[in-house]
Amino acid sequence: MSRLKKIGILTGGGDCPGLNAVIRAAVKTSHFRYGWQVIGVEDGFDGLIKPHKTRFLIQEDVVDILSKGGTILGTTNRGNPFSYKILKKGKIITCDYSETVIKKMRTLGIDALIIIGGEGTLKIALDFYRLGVPVVGVPKTIDNDLEATEVTFGFDSAINTAMEAIDKLRSTAESHHRVMVIEVMGRDAGWIALHAGIAGGADIILIPEISFDFNKIQQKIRQRGRQGYKYSIVVVAEGAYPKGGKVFTITPKNPLDNVRLGGIGYKIGEEISSLTGHETRVTVLGHLQRGGSPTANDRNLGTRFGAAAVRLIYQRQFGRMVCLKSGNIESVPLEEAIRQLKNVPLSHDLILTAKEMGIIFGD
Ligand code: F6P
Repeated sequence: MSRLKKIGILTGGGDCPGLNAVIRAAVKTSHFRYGWQVIGVEDGFDGLIKPHKTRFLIQEDVVDILSKGGTILGTTNRGNPFSYKILKKGKIITCDYSETVIKKMRTLGIDALIIIGGEGTLKIALDFYRLGVPVVGVPKTIDNDLEATEVTFGFDSAINTAMEAIDKLRSTAESHHRVMVIEVMGRDAGWIALHAGIAGGADIILIPEISFDFNKIQQKIRQRGRQGYKYSIVVVAEGAYPKGGKVFTITPKNPLDNVRLGGIGYKIGEEISSLTGHETRVTVLGHLQRGGSPTANDRNLGTRFGAAAVRLIYQRQFGRMVCLKSGNIESVPLEEAIRQLKNVPLSHDLILTAKEMGIIFGD
Protein backbone atom coordinates (compact mmCIF):
# COMPACT_ATOMS: atom_id res chain seq x y z
CA MET A 1 0.00 0.00 0.00
CA SER A 2 2.68 2.46 0.99
CA ARG A 3 5.81 2.95 -1.11
CA LEU A 4 7.80 4.74 1.55
CA LYS A 5 11.30 3.48 2.23
CA LYS A 6 13.08 5.89 4.46
CA ILE A 7 11.89 8.15 7.26
CA GLY A 8 13.65 10.79 9.31
CA ILE A 9 13.25 11.60 12.99
CA LEU A 10 14.30 14.61 15.04
CA THR A 11 13.81 16.05 18.51
CA GLY A 12 13.40 19.83 18.96
CA GLY A 13 13.00 22.24 21.88
CA GLY A 14 13.92 21.44 25.48
CA ASP A 15 14.63 17.79 26.23
CA CYS A 16 12.54 15.67 28.58
CA PRO A 17 12.44 12.13 29.92
CA GLY A 18 10.77 9.76 27.45
CA LEU A 19 12.21 11.13 24.19
CA ASN A 20 14.41 8.06 23.77
CA ALA A 21 11.38 5.80 24.24
CA VAL A 22 9.76 7.54 21.25
CA ILE A 23 12.90 7.20 19.12
CA ARG A 24 13.31 3.54 20.07
CA ALA A 25 9.69 2.67 19.29
CA ALA A 26 9.79 4.56 15.97
CA VAL A 27 12.99 2.80 14.88
CA LYS A 28 11.81 -0.67 15.94
CA THR A 29 8.36 -0.25 14.38
CA SER A 30 9.84 1.07 11.12
CA HIS A 31 12.23 -1.87 10.89
CA PHE A 32 10.08 -4.76 12.13
CA ARG A 33 6.66 -3.80 10.86
CA TYR A 34 7.38 -1.88 7.66
CA GLY A 35 10.96 -2.63 6.65
CA TRP A 36 11.84 1.05 6.41
CA GLN A 37 15.18 2.68 7.11
CA VAL A 38 15.38 5.45 9.69
CA ILE A 39 17.62 8.49 9.57
CA GLY A 40 18.27 10.25 12.86
CA VAL A 41 18.62 14.02 12.53
CA GLU A 42 20.82 15.60 15.20
CA ASP A 43 20.09 18.72 17.25
CA GLY A 44 16.62 19.49 15.94
CA PHE A 45 16.39 21.14 12.52
CA ASP A 46 20.09 22.04 12.74
CA GLY A 47 20.72 18.51 11.52
CA LEU A 48 19.04 19.37 8.22
CA ILE A 49 20.77 22.73 7.88
CA LYS A 50 24.36 21.97 8.83
CA PRO A 51 26.55 19.22 7.33
CA HIS A 52 27.35 15.85 8.93
CA LYS A 53 24.50 15.87 11.40
CA THR A 54 22.42 12.92 10.24
CA ARG A 55 22.99 9.20 10.67
CA PHE A 56 21.19 5.94 10.03
CA LEU A 57 19.56 4.56 13.15
CA ILE A 58 19.85 0.80 13.33
CA GLN A 59 18.71 -1.65 16.01
CA GLU A 60 21.99 -1.36 17.93
CA ASP A 61 21.49 2.39 18.25
CA VAL A 62 18.31 1.97 20.26
CA VAL A 63 19.42 -0.85 22.53
CA ASP A 64 19.36 0.18 26.20
CA ILE A 65 18.06 3.71 25.60
CA LEU A 66 14.58 3.21 27.07
CA SER A 67 15.70 4.09 30.58
CA LYS A 68 17.96 6.97 29.53
CA GLY A 69 16.89 10.58 30.01
CA GLY A 70 17.49 13.21 27.32
CA THR A 71 17.59 12.39 23.63
CA ILE A 72 20.24 10.37 21.80
CA LEU A 73 19.72 12.71 18.83
CA GLY A 74 20.47 15.92 20.70
CA THR A 75 18.18 18.93 20.61
CA THR A 76 18.13 22.71 20.71
CA ASN A 77 15.54 25.32 21.54
CA ARG A 78 17.07 27.78 19.10
CA GLY A 79 17.29 27.33 15.37
CA ASN A 80 13.87 27.80 13.76
CA PRO A 81 14.80 27.22 10.06
CA PHE A 82 12.22 29.83 8.97
CA SER A 83 13.82 32.55 11.11
CA TYR A 84 17.29 31.32 12.00
CA LYS A 85 19.19 33.86 14.07
CA ILE A 86 22.94 34.26 13.67
CA LEU A 87 25.33 36.79 15.13
CA LYS A 88 27.35 38.69 12.53
CA LYS A 89 29.69 41.51 13.54
CA GLY A 90 27.75 41.95 16.78
CA LYS A 91 24.40 42.16 14.99
CA ILE A 92 21.62 39.56 14.91
CA ILE A 93 20.70 38.53 11.39
CA THR A 94 17.66 36.37 10.62
CA CYS A 95 17.92 33.86 7.76
CA ASP A 96 15.35 31.56 6.16
CA TYR A 97 16.83 28.06 5.83
CA SER A 98 13.57 26.27 5.07
CA GLU A 99 14.62 25.53 1.47
CA THR A 100 17.93 24.13 2.75
CA VAL A 101 16.01 21.74 4.99
CA ILE A 102 13.74 20.59 2.17
CA LYS A 103 16.67 20.08 -0.21
CA LYS A 104 18.61 18.14 2.42
CA MET A 105 15.62 15.86 2.99
CA ARG A 106 15.45 15.22 -0.75
CA THR A 107 19.18 14.53 -1.00
CA LEU A 108 18.96 12.08 1.88
CA GLY A 109 15.89 10.44 0.35
CA ILE A 110 13.75 11.06 3.44
CA ASP A 111 10.14 10.27 2.48
CA ALA A 112 8.56 11.53 5.70
CA LEU A 113 9.76 13.18 8.88
CA ILE A 114 8.77 12.56 12.50
CA ILE A 115 9.12 15.78 14.49
CA ILE A 116 9.07 15.44 18.26
CA GLY A 117 8.67 18.66 20.18
CA GLY A 118 6.63 21.16 22.12
CA GLU A 119 4.54 24.05 20.87
CA GLY A 120 7.41 25.90 19.13
CA THR A 121 8.74 22.84 17.30
CA LEU A 122 5.24 21.74 16.28
CA LYS A 123 4.62 25.20 14.78
CA ILE A 124 7.72 24.69 12.63
CA ALA A 125 6.39 21.23 11.68
CA LEU A 126 3.15 22.83 10.53
CA ASP A 127 5.02 25.45 8.46
CA PHE A 128 6.93 22.67 6.67
CA TYR A 129 3.73 20.70 6.13
CA ARG A 130 2.20 23.79 4.51
CA LEU A 131 5.16 23.78 2.11
CA GLY A 132 4.29 20.20 1.16
CA VAL A 133 6.73 18.34 3.44
CA PRO A 134 5.24 15.05 4.73
CA VAL A 135 5.56 15.40 8.50
CA VAL A 136 3.95 13.93 11.58
CA GLY A 137 4.28 15.43 15.04
CA VAL A 138 4.80 13.91 18.47
CA PRO A 139 4.00 16.15 21.48
CA LYS A 140 6.63 16.59 24.16
CA THR A 141 7.03 18.87 27.18
CA ILE A 142 7.48 18.42 30.90
CA ASP A 143 5.14 21.41 31.33
CA ASN A 144 2.17 19.34 30.03
CA ASP A 145 0.71 22.48 28.48
CA LEU A 146 -0.45 21.21 25.07
CA GLU A 147 -4.22 21.37 24.74
CA ALA A 148 -4.58 18.68 22.10
CA THR A 149 -3.26 15.84 24.22
CA GLU A 150 -4.45 14.71 27.62
CA VAL A 151 -0.89 14.43 28.81
CA THR A 152 2.64 14.70 27.41
CA PHE A 153 5.43 12.28 28.27
CA GLY A 154 8.08 13.83 30.52
CA PHE A 155 5.46 15.36 32.79
CA ASP A 156 5.11 12.31 35.04
CA SER A 157 8.89 12.05 35.47
CA ALA A 158 9.14 15.77 36.22
CA ILE A 159 6.43 15.73 38.89
CA ASN A 160 7.99 12.69 40.54
CA THR A 161 11.39 14.41 40.63
CA ALA A 162 9.79 17.53 42.09
CA MET A 163 7.78 15.51 44.61
CA GLU A 164 10.91 13.69 45.84
CA ALA A 165 12.69 17.03 46.22
CA ILE A 166 9.77 18.41 48.25
CA ASP A 167 9.85 15.31 50.48
CA LYS A 168 13.56 15.87 51.14
CA LEU A 169 13.16 19.58 51.77
CA ARG A 170 10.29 18.91 54.18
CA SER A 171 12.47 17.02 56.65
CA THR A 172 15.09 19.76 56.80
CA ALA A 173 12.35 22.43 56.97
CA GLU A 174 10.85 20.60 59.94
CA SER A 175 14.19 20.25 61.75
CA HIS A 176 15.05 23.94 61.39
CA HIS A 177 11.51 25.33 61.71
CA ARG A 178 11.92 27.06 58.37
CA VAL A 179 9.76 28.01 55.45
CA MET A 180 10.94 26.24 52.31
CA VAL A 181 10.16 27.78 48.94
CA ILE A 182 10.56 25.40 46.01
CA GLU A 183 10.52 26.88 42.51
CA VAL A 184 9.54 24.41 39.82
CA MET A 185 9.27 24.71 36.03
CA GLY A 186 6.08 25.79 34.26
CA ARG A 187 6.33 28.84 32.03
CA ASP A 188 2.67 29.38 31.21
CA ALA A 189 0.91 26.58 33.04
CA GLY A 190 1.04 25.43 36.63
CA TRP A 191 0.61 21.70 36.09
CA ILE A 192 3.97 20.73 37.59
CA ALA A 193 3.52 22.98 40.65
CA LEU A 194 -0.04 21.75 41.17
CA HIS A 195 0.65 18.02 40.84
CA ALA A 196 4.01 17.98 42.62
CA GLY A 197 2.75 20.40 45.27
CA ILE A 198 -0.21 18.23 46.15
CA ALA A 199 1.76 14.98 45.99
CA GLY A 200 4.44 16.58 48.18
CA GLY A 201 1.97 17.96 50.73
CA ALA A 202 2.65 21.67 50.09
CA ASP A 203 0.83 24.30 52.17
CA ILE A 204 0.93 27.00 49.51
CA ILE A 205 0.95 26.45 45.74
CA LEU A 206 1.46 29.36 43.35
CA ILE A 207 0.72 28.93 39.65
CA PRO A 208 0.66 31.25 36.61
CA GLU A 209 -3.12 30.86 36.29
CA ILE A 210 -3.79 32.46 39.72
CA SER A 211 -1.94 35.69 40.49
CA PHE A 212 -1.17 35.86 44.19
CA ASP A 213 -1.07 38.33 47.04
CA PHE A 214 1.98 38.28 49.38
CA ASN A 215 -0.35 39.08 52.29
CA LYS A 216 -2.32 35.87 51.74
CA ILE A 217 0.93 33.93 51.87
CA GLN A 218 2.07 35.51 55.13
CA GLN A 219 -1.37 35.01 56.68
CA LYS A 220 -1.24 31.31 55.89
CA ILE A 221 2.23 30.93 57.35
CA ARG A 222 1.22 32.80 60.52
CA GLN A 223 -1.95 30.71 60.77
CA ARG A 224 0.12 27.53 60.56
CA GLY A 225 2.36 28.90 63.32
CA ARG A 226 -0.70 29.46 65.55
CA GLN A 227 -1.80 25.90 64.83
CA GLY A 228 1.56 24.66 66.09
CA TYR A 229 3.27 24.02 62.76
CA LYS A 230 6.71 25.55 62.85
CA TYR A 231 7.53 25.03 59.18
CA SER A 232 5.76 25.52 55.86
CA ILE A 233 6.23 24.35 52.29
CA VAL A 234 5.61 26.74 49.39
CA VAL A 235 5.73 25.40 45.82
CA VAL A 236 5.86 28.04 43.09
CA ALA A 237 5.86 27.69 39.32
CA GLU A 238 8.52 29.79 37.58
CA GLY A 239 5.75 31.56 35.63
CA ALA A 240 3.70 32.58 38.70
CA TYR A 241 3.43 36.29 39.46
CA PRO A 242 1.94 38.63 42.09
CA LYS A 243 -1.33 40.46 41.50
CA GLY A 244 -0.65 43.55 39.43
CA GLY A 245 2.91 42.37 38.77
CA LYS A 246 4.55 40.39 36.02
CA VAL A 247 6.63 37.25 35.54
CA PHE A 248 10.24 37.27 36.66
CA THR A 249 12.76 36.82 33.86
CA ILE A 250 16.50 36.47 33.48
CA THR A 251 17.94 38.48 30.59
CA PRO A 252 20.42 36.29 28.72
CA LYS A 253 24.02 37.46 28.22
CA ASN A 254 24.09 35.86 24.77
CA PRO A 255 21.67 37.80 22.52
CA LEU A 256 20.88 34.59 20.63
CA ASP A 257 19.50 32.95 23.78
CA ASN A 258 15.81 33.00 24.67
CA VAL A 259 14.64 35.01 27.66
CA ARG A 260 14.43 32.61 30.60
CA LEU A 261 12.01 32.64 33.48
CA GLY A 262 13.33 32.63 37.01
CA GLY A 263 13.60 34.61 40.20
CA ILE A 264 10.07 34.41 41.56
CA GLY A 265 11.13 31.82 44.17
CA TYR A 266 13.75 34.20 45.62
CA LYS A 267 11.32 37.12 45.60
CA ILE A 268 8.78 35.06 47.55
CA GLY A 269 11.47 33.92 49.97
CA GLU A 270 12.50 37.55 50.65
CA GLU A 271 8.91 38.70 51.15
CA ILE A 272 8.07 35.83 53.50
CA SER A 273 11.06 36.46 55.71
CA SER A 274 10.49 40.20 55.85
CA LEU A 275 6.72 39.94 56.40
CA THR A 276 6.73 37.05 58.90
CA GLY A 277 10.26 37.08 60.37
CA HIS A 278 10.42 33.36 59.61
CA GLU A 279 13.72 31.90 58.52
CA THR A 280 13.19 31.01 54.84
CA ARG A 281 15.21 29.08 52.30
CA VAL A 282 14.69 28.86 48.55
CA THR A 283 15.47 25.95 46.23
CA VAL A 284 15.17 26.29 42.47
CA LEU A 285 14.77 22.79 41.02
CA GLY A 286 15.42 23.96 37.45
CA HIS A 287 16.70 21.42 34.96
CA LEU A 288 16.76 18.58 37.48
CA GLN A 289 13.12 18.21 36.44
CA ARG A 290 14.08 17.70 32.82
CA GLY A 291 16.76 15.06 33.48
CA GLY A 292 16.99 11.49 34.64
CA SER A 293 15.35 8.22 33.81
CA PRO A 294 11.71 8.37 32.67
CA THR A 295 9.01 6.85 34.86
CA ALA A 296 7.17 3.73 33.63
CA ASN A 297 4.25 5.95 32.54
CA ASP A 298 6.50 8.18 30.44
CA ARG A 299 8.34 5.23 28.87
CA ASN A 300 5.05 3.67 27.89
CA LEU A 301 3.47 6.86 26.60
CA GLY A 302 6.63 7.66 24.60
CA THR A 303 6.63 4.12 23.19
CA ARG A 304 2.95 4.36 22.19
CA PHE A 305 3.51 7.77 20.57
CA GLY A 306 6.60 6.56 18.67
CA ALA A 307 4.85 3.52 17.21
CA ALA A 308 1.71 5.57 16.45
CA ALA A 309 3.74 8.21 14.57
CA VAL A 310 5.13 5.52 12.26
CA ARG A 311 1.62 4.11 11.79
CA LEU A 312 0.40 7.59 10.78
CA ILE A 313 3.17 7.78 8.19
CA TYR A 314 2.18 4.38 6.82
CA GLN A 315 -1.39 5.60 6.51
CA ARG A 316 -0.06 8.77 4.85
CA GLN A 317 -1.83 10.90 7.41
CA PHE A 318 0.64 13.74 7.24
CA GLY A 319 0.28 17.11 8.95
CA ARG A 320 -1.07 15.43 12.07
CA MET A 321 0.16 14.96 15.63
CA VAL A 322 -0.31 11.86 17.73
CA CYS A 323 -2.09 12.49 21.03
CA LEU A 324 -3.74 10.84 24.00
CA LYS A 325 -7.52 11.15 24.29
CA SER A 326 -9.54 9.34 26.96
CA GLY A 327 -6.60 7.00 27.41
CA ASN A 328 -6.42 6.08 23.71
CA ILE A 329 -3.84 7.05 21.12
CA GLU A 330 -5.39 9.23 18.46
CA SER A 331 -4.21 12.03 16.18
CA VAL A 332 -5.18 15.64 15.49
CA PRO A 333 -4.25 18.08 12.71
CA LEU A 334 -1.15 20.11 13.61
CA GLU A 335 -3.23 23.31 13.37
CA GLU A 336 -5.37 22.05 16.22
CA ALA A 337 -2.34 20.82 18.15
CA ILE A 338 -0.83 24.30 18.43
CA ARG A 339 -4.02 26.34 18.59
CA GLN A 340 -3.85 27.01 22.28
CA LEU A 341 -1.94 26.14 25.39
CA LYS A 342 -3.50 24.00 28.09
CA ASN A 343 -3.67 26.02 31.28
CA VAL A 344 -4.90 24.67 34.58
CA PRO A 345 -8.66 25.39 34.67
CA LEU A 346 -9.64 27.10 37.88
CA SER A 347 -12.41 24.54 38.25
CA HIS A 348 -9.88 21.66 38.14
CA ASP A 349 -10.59 18.99 40.70
CA LEU A 350 -7.07 19.23 42.15
CA ILE A 351 -7.58 22.94 42.85
CA LEU A 352 -10.93 22.33 44.50
CA THR A 353 -9.53 19.41 46.48
CA ALA A 354 -6.52 21.46 47.59
CA LYS A 355 -8.65 24.42 48.66
CA GLU A 356 -11.00 22.16 50.63
CA MET A 357 -7.96 20.82 52.47
CA GLY A 358 -6.71 24.28 53.39
CA ILE A 359 -3.95 24.56 50.79
CA ILE A 360 -3.88 28.12 49.47
CA PHE A 361 -3.08 29.52 46.02
CA GLY A 362 -2.43 33.05 47.27
CA ASP A 363 -5.61 34.54 45.81
O1 F6P B 1 9.22 24.35 28.15
C1 F6P B 1 9.82 23.50 29.02
C2 F6P B 1 10.74 24.21 29.98
O2 F6P B 1 11.17 23.23 30.83
C3 F6P B 1 10.11 25.40 30.72
O3 F6P B 1 9.36 25.03 31.83
C4 F6P B 1 11.33 26.22 31.07
O4 F6P B 1 10.99 27.57 31.26
C5 F6P B 1 12.17 26.02 29.87
O5 F6P B 1 11.87 24.76 29.34
C6 F6P B 1 13.65 26.16 30.16
O6 F6P B 1 14.36 26.02 28.98
P1 F6P B 1 15.94 26.10 28.81
O7 F6P B 1 16.39 24.70 28.57
O8 F6P B 1 16.16 26.96 27.63
O9 F6P B 1 16.54 26.66 30.05
